[in-house]
Amino acid sequence: MYQLIKPVLFTLDPELIHDLTLNILSKIGSLLKRSSVNDEAELACEIAGINFPNRIGLAAGMDKACLAPLAWQGLGFGFIEIGTVTNVAQAGNEKPRLFRIKEKNSLLNCLGFNNLGAEKVAEKLKLLRENSQFKIPIGINIGKSRIIDPRNPEEVIKDYLASLELLENYADYIAINVSSPNTPGLREWESPNQLKKLLEPIIQKTIKPVFLKISPDMEDENLYQVLEISENLKIKGLVATNTTTERQNTPLWANSQMGGISGELLKARSLRITKLIGKNKSKNLALISVGGISSLEDIKIRLDSGADLIQIYTALVYEGPFLINKINENLLDKTKIAKTDL
Ligand SMILES: Cc1cc2nc3c(=O)[nH]c(=O)nc-3n(C[C@H](O)[C@H](O)[C@H](O)COP(=O)(O)O)c2cc1C
Repeated sequence: MYQLIKPVLFTLDPELIHDLTLNILSKIGSLLKRSSVNDEAELACEIAGINFPNRIGLAAGMDKACLAPLAWQGLGFGFIEIGTVTNVAQAGNEKPRLFRIKEKNSLLNCLGFNNLGAEKVAEKLKLLRENSQFKIPIGINIGKSRIIDPRNPEEVIKDYLASLELLENYADYIAINVSSPNTPGLREWESPNQLKKLLEPIIQKTIKPVFLKISPDMEDENLYQVLEISENLKIKGLVATNTTTERQNTPLWANSQMGGISGELLKARSLRITKLIGKNKSKNLALISVGGISSLEDIKIRLDSGADLIQIYTALVYEGPFLINKINENLLDKTKIAKTDL
């Protein structure tokens, strides 16, 4: 069905379709009946002290302000990551800022953390937490407000802590985003000294599990340092990865367009980082793998490479909203087959 309407949807502006879809999902969310396959005991797991009904989550950025949580639940997700939320509400970069790279099942975005701000999002989350219909875990992804100078450490830390204070009560986990390519200077906070400076006060302040979302573009040496810092500070999980600024196999027009690429063009990079982390991390550090995942096969490879959980964004645009249900159904079939084979 989705493959039939996709050509029509793809004639329209990507951000317009995104906003329209989110709007519709926010209205019909409670009507979407979640299939019980998504809650079968075989799919459930406990990671970082949180109980997940299944391992497939909605990646950050799709629903920055938690507008359609019941819809994501209805579509079968095992958890959702809201945000990125910044302390100060902001409009983001100028439009157009979201592009399809259709021939590669990929997206290019330079949205720049357009969001309602932590206070407004907290109000929405408060209401959601009072709604007993909603049952799946929520991660809240926080980032730096654009008006804060990235080279002023005190201000940057204060900015993250302010968001944390407003949002932490509603989160099952907090994801610290230092990896978006669309906020000038943000990725500098992935360098070891800066990262330690930022994470220490956050860890001290909250009792919620803290995850760190990293970029796919750092050197391996930097990645090992990030891993060591995360283990030492008792970060509970890494979310790998955000979008890439690399331009390999991209159409010409995309080479001069700033922003981060997601989907199929990110897949190899994200998988490589998943494998590297999977091989070198301790059992205490959870790994959420994200980037170019679109099938049961992709998920099996990520889980075999050390990932505990999976997130998906771009494949929803190309494969449609029933993808999660389908994958969980197939995953369950495979689990059952594997068990009978024994
Ligand atoms: C349009 C768009 C907006 C995004 N916004 C955010 C964001 O606000 N915060 C964040 O941490 N990641 C954001 N991401 C990155 C995704 O969470 C994910 O890490 C990335 O897209 C790779 O997964 P995918 O290939 O399944 O899309 C965004 C991605 C897209 C495509």
